[in-house]
Amino acid sequence: MKLQLKQLAATFGLIGCLGMAAPAAVAGTDAHFKDADEAIEYRQAVFTLVKAHVGVMGAMVKGKMDYDAAEFAYRAESLKALSNMPLEGFTYPGSDKGDTKAKAAVWKDMDGFKAKMEKFQSDSEALAEAAKAGSLDAAKPAFITTVKNCKACHKDYKNK
Ligand code: HEC
Repeated sequence: MKLQLKQLAATFGLIGCLGMAAPAAVAGTDAHFKDADEAIEYRQAVFTLVKAHVGVMGAMVKGKMDYDAAEFAYRAESLKALSNMPLEGFTYPGSDKGDTKAKAAVWKDMDGFKAKMEKFQSDSEALAEAAKAGSLDAAKPAFITTVKNCKACHKDYKNK
């Protein structure tokens, strides 16, 4: 009997983990972080990657780097995937305290914060779609729309 219960718990644990694999299920649910510090490092790491990919696309948009359609599309696809990731680093219990630049407003106004994150996600998705056409002129407006999300969110939710 005891063993059966254990097996049951193990099975449910596994199902829980498998459920986490679907992006829609990950966002906002409890992730498998060791503690709040790890959740903070996770979300900061995601934003470091966001910055790297946006930086290359930005250089192409500004003409500081030659436009390469395949590379631009790769960066846009990466950004689309990354935009789905930070949220679970914020919803993790206790992650409002620690080595973080996030303002308390994130947790006081989680609905508003999530709405900003969702706009970032849908704009990044539109950018990835636009980038497939292989033309900088086609992708540029979507890029500009997408990067407006950075300041729009940081203004209310991130300390300098
Ligand atoms: C929905 C809100 C939101 C959006 C959109 C957003 N950020 Fe952030 N960003 C944050 C918050 C909050 C932090 C602070 C995280 C922390 O320190 O725990 C942050 C942190 C960062 C950091 C610092 C990471 C570190 O190592 O500490 C960088 C870089 C960054 N964001 C870049 C960007 C860029 C570039 C974009 C747009 C393409 C963007 N962010 C969009 C909320 C957002």
